[in-house]
Amino acid sequence: MKTIIHPDELRSAVREIRSQKKIIGFVPTMGALHEGHLSLVRNARRETDIVIVSIFVNPTQFGPHEDYRIYPRTLEEDTVLLNREFTDLAFVPRVEDIYPQGYTTTVQPGPAGDTFEGKIRPGHFAGVLSVVVKLFNLVQPDLAVFGQKDAQQLFLIRRMTEDLDFPIRIVESETVREDDGLALSSRNRYLKVEERKKAVVLYRALCAGKRVIESGHRSLSDTQNAMLEAIAKVPEFSPDYATAVSDDTFTEEDPIAPPARLIIAGRLGSVRLIDNMKV
Ligand code: PAJ
Repeated sequence: MKTIIHPDELRSAVREIRSQKKIIGFVPTMGALHEGHLSLVRNARRETDIVIVSIFVNPTQFGPHEDYRIYPRTLEEDTVLLNREFTDLAFVPRVEDIYPQGYTTTVQPGPAGDTFEGKIRPGHFAGVLSVVVKLFNLVQPDLAVFGQKDAQQLFLIRRMTEDLDFPIRIVESETVREDDGLALSSRNRYLKVEERKKAVVLYRALCAGKRVIESGHRSLSDTQNAMLEAIAKVPEFSPDYATAVSDDTFTEEDPIAPPARLIIAGRLGSVRLIDNMKV
C-alpha cells in the first residue's frame, strides 16, 4: 500500500490511475480503524480495481468542546490493517494542506442537517460535507462507501452527491457490531469497563422499538416509549434522542411508514454514542 500525504501527489496518482481506465473505490475515514471501517474497505474492493482510503481527523466537524484534540490517532496500526485488506492507497493529508490559510468556503446541508445530530452538534454536518466534497474532488472516485452506522451523515452525503452532481455512486455498508450488539466505533475505546457493559443499552432500545413496529403498531409515541423504557434500565445513559425517522426524508412520521429507521444517541458518562436500525 502506498501512503500519500500531499494533495498534489494524490492528484497525480489519481491522474495515472484514471489514465489506465481503472475503477476507483473510496472509503473516507478519520482513522482509529476497526472492523466496521474494514468492512467498508472490503465492500469497495468487491466492485472496483483500486481502493483509496483517506484518514483525516477533520477539525471542522468537531464542536469547540468536543474531542478533536483527544480523538484516537493510531496511524501505524491503521496502516497495518489497511495493508492486510490489500488497500492500494492511503491518503493521510495534513490539516494545513486541507485547510490552507485563507480557506473560507463551506458546503451547507439542507434542513435535514439541523435535526438530531445536527441539533446537538451545530455545524457538524457542514464540516462533514465540506471535507467530503474536497475529498471527492481530490480522489475522483467512481464509488464511495459509507456506513449505515452514521445514518444521518449517509443521508446528507447521498443528498449532496445528487444535489451537486457528483458522478459518484454512494454505496452503503451495514453496521458491524460486537457480540452483545454494541456498534463498533472509534469512540468505544473511551468507555470504562463498567460503561462498556452498559453501552449495550442503545442496541437494546433499538430492538425494543423494532419489536413494537414488527408487532404491527405504527404509532410513533408507542415506539418512542418502548425505547425509553429500555433506556430507563440504564440511568447512566442520558439520551439526546430516541425515535423513528423516514429513510426517505430523515424526519419523524406518525404513524411510522416503511422504509423507516430507529435512531438513538446520547451520553454514557463522558462518551457520546450513536446507533440506528432499519425497520
Ligand atoms: P469515521 O467515524 O471514521 O467513519 C468512517 C466510515 O466508517 C463512515 O462511513 C462510518 O459510517 C463507517 N463506520 C463507522 N463505524 C461503523 C460500523 N460499526 N460499521 C460499519 N461502518 C462503520 O464518518 C466519519 O469518519 C467522518 O465523518 C468522515 C465521513 C470520514 C468525514 O470526515
